Amino acid sequence: MRVAVPSETVDGERRVAVSPDSIPRLRALGLEVWVQAGAGVEAGFPDTNLKDAGAEIAPDLVSCLKGADLVCKVQPPSLSEAQALPEGSALICFLPTSTPPDVLNVLVKRHITAFSFELVPRISRAQAMDALSSQASIGGYKAVLIGAARLPKILPLQMTAAGTIAPARVMVMGAGVAGLQAIATARRLGAVVEATDVRSAVREEVQSLGATFVGLELEAQEGEGGYAREQSEEFLARQRELIAQRVEQSDLVITTAAVPGRRAPILITKEMVSRMRAGAVIVDLAADTGGNCELTSPGEEVRVGDVVILGWRNLPATVPTTASQMLARNLAAIAGHLIADGKLVLDFDDEITGGSCAVHDGEIRNQLLREAAQVGQAKA
Ligand SMILES: NC(=O)c1ccc[n+]([C@@H]2O[C@H](COP(=O)([O-])OP(=O)(O)OC[C@H]3O[C@@H](n4cnc5c(N)ncnc54)[C@H](O)[C@@H]3O)[C@@H](O)[C@H]2O)c1
Repeated sequence: MRVAVPSETVDGERRVAVSPDSIPRLRALGLEVWVQAGAGVEAGFPDTNLKDAGAEIAPDLVSCLKGADLVCKVQPPSLSEAQALPEGSALICFLPTSTPPDVLNVLVKRHITAFSFELVPRISRAQAMDALSSQASIGGYKAVLIGAARLPKILPLQMTAAGTIAPARVMVMGAGVAGLQAIATARRLGAVVEATDVRSAVREEVQSLGATFVGLELEAQEGEGGYAREQSEEFLARQRELIAQRVEQSDLVITTAAVPGRRAPILITKEMVSRMRAGAVIVDLAADTGGNCELTSPGEEVRVGDVVILGWRNLPATVPTTASQMLARNLAAIAGHLIADGKLVLDFDDEITGGSCAVHDGEIRNQLLREAAQVGQAKA
């Protein structure tokens, strides 16, 4: 069985779907691994390293994909990449609901069996395959570093001959995987950290990292699979009222609140920003799904008075070596689950195989992706 790993083509995407460490794992499954020349360079894995680890290097996309049974990518394929996938092959990559409908429809037409990192079920058995978690954790770490570098003050308490400097106050909204890593990073840098989440179950985790949990005293908002469920506008309005004062007193606010498949909830309004401290920074990790701050402009830096709002997209790609190492391991674990005796074994009754398969046999198997593809058909 032949595996192809093409170069990523999305702007700013520096990750790659294999690493020198994952290649031997894939080969142990009986796979031949073909990597497009230069695909790993930005992640710090030059062709020679990948070759030494056991990969074959293909000079271009066409030769990389030729005869591939399984294509491994980070980002969803572009339209032309989807059209170049061998008919009937399998694909593993991120497939968010924002994947262009025409790409989804080409996957359907070409009878691609597509597995999505987003759909891997969050069960203990699948933890090694959980790329959402591995990448979110890197995003949470980097968000604090970016925010700290932009603050006009230091984070830790300093007691010096020149006087005592109070520690910076950091507020983390959404204490999931990214939020918990942001809390841990901000604490290591010496900040006083507060965090909030609609799932009160995270209270103890927040406290064990040395942060204060700001309870919302609203009804529990736990949804399926450990995720939050979508909240009503009344709920969000009440939540904003409860956290407004905390936001005002913060130097750095990291927002990570997300609801799978939906627009991110607005937690910080324009009005709240206008009352923030001069020099305060918001790093909006939910920018990819619209942002948690009303003023976030995805992919951009916005300055409102003396407050800076950073809506950088895809922070894991800015730490490409570590992010690729983790993603490549997640991917090898998924491949290990799907492949037996050098062949793809598709048992759709299995929770992991059935759950993570987005497209198979000319059909989109996931409701949210089906809706995304239908929107495209309606427009066409
Ligand atoms: N294998 C596993 O069992 C496994 C793996 C990973 C995560 N999980 C669970 O899933 C949880 C969520 O994961 P995630 O980080 O990918 O979630 P996510 O990225 O979907 O959301 C981030 C956080 O935002 C919170 N949120 C949503 N709306 C909010 C609002 N209005 N205000 C404040 N916070 C809000 C969510 O509750 C979540 O904690 C984890 O914390 C964990 O408990 C389980």
